[in-house]
Amino acid sequence: MRIHPAPAAPPAIFDVAAIRALFPALQQQVHGKPLVYLDNAATTQKPQAVIDALVSYYAHDNANVHRGVHALSERATAAFESARKTVQRFVNARSDREIVFTRNATESINLVARAWGDWQLNAGDEVLITAMEHHSNIVPWQMACARTGAILRVAPIDDYGDVVMDEFARMLTPKTRMLAVTHMSNALGTINPVGDMVKMARSVGATVLIDGSQAAYHQAVDVQALDPDFYVFTGHKVYGPTGIGVLYGRESVLQAMPPFLGGGDMISSVTFEKSEWNELPYKFEAGTPNIADAIALGAALDFVQSIGFDAIGAHESAVLAYATAQLSAVPGLKIIGTAKHKASVVSFVIDDIHPHDIGTIVDREGVAIRTGHHCAQPVMDRYGIPATARASLAMYNTTDDVDALVGALARVRQLLG
Ligand code: ALA
Repeated sequence: MRIHPAPAAPPAIFDVAAIRALFPALQQQVHGKPLVYLDNAATTQKPQAVIDALVSYYAHDNANVHRGVHALSERATAAFESARKTVQRFVNARSDREIVFTRNATESINLVARAWGDWQLNAGDEVLITAMEHHSNIVPWQMACARTGAILRVAPIDDYGDVVMDEFARMLTPKTRMLAVTHMSNALGTINPVGDMVKMARSVGATVLIDGSQAAYHQAVDVQALDPDFYVFTGHKVYGPTGIGVLYGRESVLQAMPPFLGGGDMISSVTFEKSEWNELPYKFEAGTPNIADAIALGAALDFVQSIGFDAIGAHESAVLAYATAQLSAVPGLKIIGTAKHKASVVSFVIDDIHPHDIGTIVDREGVAIRTGHHCAQPVMDRYGIPATARASLAMYNTTDDVDALVGALARVRQLLG
């Protein structure tokens, strides 16, 4: 097993106690014990600033956007479009026309698989994914392939949880029309070399979608530097609300693509004979959008950027190194996913104890982890296991949280032998 060297200490300005104090949900007890929240890959807790943005919108500004001439509608529209600009800055897109609000990353991928896939894929074309994808980056492509006759191909991963790059290169051919790849695995923690992957895909003329659901709350994302055609992420993992997601799309591609859903706001004119599409990004935002959660997502991204990914990344890496070392010392525990470049996820099994039993017992000790296949069943199949227990870190986790998990795992041993 690879043990990660401890990185440099986090910068002194990163005050984790002060950061924890900004998250109301972290201040509670569960089963009479202080909550230790280690299920961040599923969803992160929300800082007060995000909760305040939601409450303030509904308390003062609630109105529909892009339609009204009255004061509340103008305020709601300004706040909604300002959130779009915040997202644009967050991913360093060239224009806010490249930022489409969706419900979540899953909807963003489905939008591309439908609108781009049905338009561009033909029988015999290939869609390349990797063996570590979340179901949300597998199933929409299976469905697109079923509709179009395209073929889904899967680049394998090795025992550490890295993509086998020789095989990946071999599978990228002029038949590859789409490379759809995760930036970071939710089940293993692997960070893929997406910059290299994009360049390799470009050399065969493939379009590229990157699923940034996990990466976007651990590291800075620069779509101009990475240069994919599409980059998707979800709001609730980056300290924002549920029900809001983002699709970044290169403007020229979005411009050429047909729309996904039809309805209000996505049109510039409608007659019974024919409809014309609205300009970007509204062409892809049919119906009243999720105004409140988009505004609160803007607040979440401002919050994250006020702390900065240099500090967050250094802190999380230090806690990950500690967690890896401490958990590796637990008798019978095996970490699944030991890629050289990984972040904030420790998936593990302990002998033949079922992960659900592990999760239930540690919950009684106040420790929240996730157990199961993590919506990545093929990853479990790759390692020949039904499930793992998974601890996943965010900016507010500490080595004390890791110690609490290790203590709770001792209780698992006591009870289950
Ligand atoms: N995809 C989320 C997870 O990894 C729900 O837990």
